[in-house]
Amino acid sequence: SYPLSMAMAQFEPNYDERQVPEFKIPDPLTTFDGKKITATSEWENTRRPELYQFFEEQVYGKVPGKLDSLSFNMVETSDDALNGKAQRKQVEVSLFKNGKSLDFNILLYLPKSRKPAPIFLGYNFYGNHSITDDPNVIVSKAWAMDSEEFGISGHTLTEASRGVRVHRWALEKIIDGGFGLATIYYGEVDPDKNDFSDGLHSLFYMESQEIPKKDEWGSIAAWAFGMSRALDYLETDPDIDASHVVSFGHSRLGKAALWAGASDTRFAGVISNDSGCGGAALSKRQVGETVGRINTSFPHWFCDNFTEYNENEEALPVDQHELLALIAPRPLYVASAEDDQWADPRGEFLSAHYATSVYDLYGTKGISDTKMPEVNSPVQNTLAYHIRTGKHDVTEYDWEQYIDWAKRFVAVKP
Ligand code: GCU
Repeated sequence: SYPLSMAMAQFEPNYDERQVPEFKIPDPLTTFDGKKITATSEWENTRRPELYQFFEEQVYGKVPGKLDSLSFNMVETSDDALNGKAQRKQVEVSLFKNGKSLDFNILLYLPKSRKPAPIFLGYNFYGNHSITDDPNVIVSKAWAMDSEEFGISGHTLTEASRGVRVHRWALEKIIDGGFGLATIYYGEVDPDKNDFSDGLHSLFYMESQEIPKKDEWGSIAAWAFGMSRALDYLETDPDIDASHVVSFGHSRLGKAALWAGASDTRFAGVISNDSGCGGAALSKRQVGETVGRINTSFPHWFCDNFTEYNENEEALPVDQHELLALIAPRPLYVASAEDDQWADPRGEFLSAHYATSVYDLYGTKGISDTKMPEVNSPVQNTLAYHIRTGKHDVTEYDWEQYIDWAKRFVAVKP
């Protein structure tokens, strides 16, 4: 292969290991001013806060303030869902700030066989009604991405997309495994478009403000914030074991699940499914999607400060393994797919590996091997990793691993 010119390098993704630039992995256990961290107390009081602050101000953006209030409204419930195996609830969460409000809806399925139930909480891309054939699930009125494949036009969700994403949510397996599922349509929290006049951001503007400041939240941080507000509800529901809620997400929503887990330690565990650039994958490798590329295609996802690292990853004093480390010592599962090179599976694996020193510090087990496991051969410790065959997606196989792992490391049955 020929060396790419600098200009081309911005547009041509690299998939060649030999073209990966040389770089030093920032040490999670050395502070920015060079002090070695040797105790969990030093990690918690010094290093974790400075790393968190960096990700908050330079990558995802800060939440500008607190809500004035929030409320929960049980919209619908049934004791006879999934052939009587599960209870279904649809809960509207309303957020209030500066005289404005925003509503989003949580769809819940809970196993009748286990109360209170540990749960997986994760966003969906095309509405709560897309994850199941259940005709009782309410169709969202929020803005949606048009999709010919799913019959979505005019940015409006309809019956046409009911059940179109069933395969991504192994609902029966989750319920049979003794877990509940809570999901939210991400477009209700912040529509996924480069427009800051709508969604959560607009509630928090100071007078005459129209876009977030350079160090204020993009959409990923807004979605993460929404997950925390959903958790606020889950804590009030006696059918739910809110001390065992796993934040889950695929792809852009995996980036959000990771940031939710890092910023809200109430999450008992985190699953990153194919989260890639700005998620689990190391940025400095510049394999597949790069920082410059993601900030150009999706200018609303991260805070504006993050654009300082476009084609300039070497200037980053952190990398994404340190985002993973912020979740330690809580259980964390990083998963990749073989045909998802855009998300850099090897970069996701190495990130889990390099976060392991912080898990070690706590006496928990991570991914100590530097060699990637074979496809479909998960390594499951408190910090877990797998790469499965197939494309960028969430499959039954992924869920089978998550459920097994969550039984062993998150919510162990008494
Ligand atoms: C695009 C984007 C990724 C993202 C993915 C998804 O491919 O470049 O960063 O993860 O969409 O959300 O499916």
